[in-house]
Amino acid sequence: MCGIVGYVGDKNAQDFLISGLKRLEYRGYDSAGIVTLAEDGVATLLRAKGKITNLEEKLAHARREDRIGIGHTRWATHGEPSETNAHPHQAGPIYLVHNGIIENYKELKQQLKEHEFKSETDSEVLAALIDSFYKDGAHPLVNAVVQALKLVKGTYGIAVVSVKQPDEIVVARSGSPLVIGVGHGETMIASDASALVGHTKQAIYLNDGEVATVKSDSVEIKTLKAEPVSAKVEEIETNLSAIQKGGYDHFLLKEIMEQPESLIETLRGRVNEREGTVRLGGPGLSEAQLRKIKHLIIVGCGTAYHAGLLASYYIEKFTPEITIEPVVASEYRYRQVYIPKDSVALIVSQSGETADTLACLREIKKQGVTTIGIVNAIGSTIAREVDGGTYVHVGPEISVASTKAFTSQVVAMVIFGLTIAQAKGVRTSILRPYVKEIAHLPETIRKTLESVKDSVNGLAGKYAAYEHGIYLGRDTAYPTAMEGALKLKEISYVDANAYAFGELKHGPLALIDDRFFEIALLPKGELYDKAISNLQEVLARGGHVLAITNEESFDLPVDDVIRLDVDAELFAPLIMNLVLQLLAYYVTVAKGYDVDQPRNLAKSVTVE
Ligand code: F6R
Repeated sequence: MCGIVGYVGDKNAQDFLISGLKRLEYRGYDSAGIVTLAEDGVATLLRAKGKITNLEEKLAHARREDRIGIGHTRWATHGEPSETNAHPHQAGPIYLVHNGIIENYKELKQQLKEHEFKSETDSEVLAALIDSFYKDGAHPLVNAVVQALKLVKGTYGIAVVSVKQPDEIVVARSGSPLVIGVGHGETMIASDASALVGHTKQAIYLNDGEVATVKSDSVEIKTLKAEPVSAKVEEIETNLSAIQKGGYDHFLLKEIMEQPESLIETLRGRVNEREGTVRLGGPGLSEAQLRKIKHLIIVGCGTAYHAGLLASYYIEKFTPEITIEPVVASEYRYRQVYIPKDSVALIVSQSGETADTLACLREIKKQGVTTIGIVNAIGSTIAREVDGGTYVHVGPEISVASTKAFTSQVVAMVIFGLTIAQAKGVRTSILRPYVKEIAHLPETIRKTLESVKDSVNGLAGKYAAYEHGIYLGRDTAYPTAMEGALKLKEISYVDANAYAFGELKHGPLALIDDRFFEIALLPKGELYDKAISNLQEVLARGGHVLAITNEESFDLPVDDVIRLDVDAELFAPLIMNLVLQLLAYYVTVAKGYDVDQPRNLAKSVTVE
């Protein structure tokens, strides 16, 4: 989604802004812009539709030595992607960049008769509103910003500069993240700490309802009610190598291939294979509290939802007397749901900023239910608002399609389930096989990725030729199929859907023809034979099947088979998902599409 950067200090602001915006490119955008101010207040505004390289072309003819500025990557909500709609927006002496949505912008606009609106955006309305209170610099900029924000309904992360005060940036947030990087003689702002990496390790994460005046050597924070806030400086953990491609052609392939390491980080200190036990500090629940849990709600969107669904299949296998309800956040937030007593909600989010997931978290908290975050982005809004949490620690996920976060979310939630089971007194002999497999998963993942990468690549051209894909699985392989289908459709634009094998006869079987391929996930186990019978039905109707299995005896006449020799029976579907991730990647490469930034999508969905 939209990205914000800003700089005030002793270095060239244009350089910082462009490099910062490039760091935020992964979030998805359709236009970009920067404004910098000279000491005498002369502003240089540059905006361009499309990629940041278009902005750089303009910059080549407008190089300045300015030491302060703000920049933005826009993901259109109000008004089409265009140069005029791109940020920064100007109103009188002020320039503003904005992430989020101003819901009451139409009403506000009607009151702002003096401003001549140039764009169709809600953000320009906010710029004009601030300007109306600023009175050409007669009042401090921060006061004008506060007065304006008090009238605003909606979400925002904003940065504002004025040609009248070319030594400060005013920033504020409500529902859209903003982080302030504190350097030596320079201060930077960004909507995502990755833009600050390599410049400073010290960061202040602004909270909702706070506004800050940022200068090269000071940061002053207060609430919208004018109460002073003492800034908490935190360490940025990300390093440069985590946000670079490291020799891979795409971030997506890097992130798929680094799953052995990222899962090691998720497991660190949490799994004791020798004793067959797990331990999680973050949720902060006592044994007695864990024992009392009767109902688990798992909330997420997209891939995070699939992770929750898959984890629920596992947790219910070994945790007695518990019901689990995985839910899609955008639906759940508006349902009139009765949440039973003794419930705990797991809030699953890679970015920790997803608007629908955050809204659910707030709704659920209102009902007095304990919330536990399963989050990747350190210091993100969800991570800070939950009652307790478990970071998955997979490092920045840059590619829009989520891969390594999914694997670690599933495992982190299963570990949480194991802590409940332990507290409820489930015998170690029942839990040990799960703990053992989890402890070995990083190695199993490494071996699998190495052994299947080339064969999946070899198949990609063939499967890229189909118009539709059907992904099939039973039990834990069913959520896996859903995740595989999502991965393919979101980056390769092939229409792909998942069905539980048992549902085929209830409708989807009618689809099978030469435009379709089918992916059959066939893990060993109790339901293998049932899945094979379902697969026979597909083959009997001329299906084009790619089977993925760890069952040695598999011998059906399918088009292709990927055989997995894996040291994981319980988690075989999670391993099969690696094949699905690679398939989506290579099909997309074969089609020549932008792997890391698929059309119409954004990495962090901070609007509803
Ligand atoms: C798909 C994908 C999305 C996200 C979803 C939730 O590859 O990345 O479906 O999983 O937007 O995002 P987070 O986990 O940041 O809440």
